[in-house]
Amino acid sequence: MNYFESSLEQLENLKKKKDVVILSFESSCDETAAAVVKNGREVLGNAVYTQIAIHREFGGVVPEIASRNHVAKLPYMADEALKQAGMTFDEIDAVAVTSGPGLVGALLTAVSFAKGLAFSLGKPLIAVNHMEGHVSANFISHKNLEPPFICLVVSGGHTSIIRVKDYGEYDELGSTRDDAAGEAFDKIARVLGLPYPGGPSLQKLAREGNADAFSFPKAFKGETHLDFSFSGLKTAAINLIRKLERSDPNYNKADVAASFQKAVVETLLKNAFEAAKRFEADRLVLAGGVCANELLRKKAIEMASKNRIELFFPELLYCTDNAAMIGSAAYFGIKRGCARLDLNADPSLGMTDPAPAYLE
Ligand code: KG4
Ligand code: ZN
Repeated sequence: MNYFESSLEQLENLKKKKDVVILSFESSCDETAAAVVKNGREVLGNAVYTQIAIHREFGGVVPEIASRNHVAKLPYMADEALKQAGMTFDEIDAVAVTSGPGLVGALLTAVSFAKGLAFSLGKPLIAVNHMEGHVSANFISHKNLEPPFICLVVSGGHTSIIRVKDYGEYDELGSTRDDAAGEAFDKIARVLGLPYPGGPSLQKLAREGNADAFSFPKAFKGETHLDFSFSGLKTAAINLIRKLERSDPNYNKADVAASFQKAVVETLLKNAFEAAKRFEADRLVLAGGVCANELLRKKAIEMASKNRIELFFPELLYCTDNAAMIGSAAYFGIKRGCARLDLNADPSLGMTDPAPAYLE
């Protein structure tokens, strides 16, 4: 029996197996991560090497440098995750890896590493959509959370409202027509002279500012679709900063940060709660790096209680990129018989792109 035949047989057995342990990898951007996850919800080991300090001097992620650091650090992350779990390679049922979306060179590092590892261990390899991973982070943080629910997925590259009908079954209800929310945070932070990554830096400065100091234009006012647009808001904020710089070099940056953050958060939550209302969903889930934002979490809690909607978001360590969420998504992929064995990196993989069933 060759490797692929053996993988198919193992995957069929794993569908019925009581406890499934997955060793997972993530390298789509600037975090090099490995994790050991049991049954999609229990994290036994979670190792993340963040390259923030390396990219900070360039003001953003340099893809080539990210890829080289992934190659250097992946084996150490694998060892660390296994060590935390107190396990050896033999006790792993399958290997999983992010196949997209993300930076193609960065994705290829963990895809190649995981392929080689899975092949040498004779274990199946599962491809995971990074955005599906972000949604799945919630299954780790909330042991009883199950679909269906509405999910607002907000990261550095994506901003979408997804209707999660079942594990792995998604309808995209709305998405950004231009920039992602995280991208807007990063850009405005940079213009304000704050260090990379912009979201957390801007959040920190906003604590000292007045969120009502400036008002920004709202995109799609009066329209009924659930899409987002952040480019107008971004341009308005840049123009405001340039104007303030000219009139007073000591202008209050914290006021700009606080007002901008409020505008982004209000836009995100307005559509998310509207989607929940339209689809009569009683649960709203937040996912992705931007849902680490403290104002977003606070406002979402307030609105959820007002609208009598149950709200979920991951613990902070599972909001930003990690491999535990990839192991979680892989588990549910195995259980529904949807695992791709012929995987390659796909930088523009869409959330609702179907994962072909492996028995097809
Ligand atoms: O999900 P993620 O870690 O990586 C991608 O898949 O893109 O998200 C990264 C994004 C960055 O744009 C970062 O600035 C933003 O999430 N972010 C935040 C916060 N923490 C991370 N944005 C606002 N407030 C935060 N606390
Ligand atoms: Zn991410």
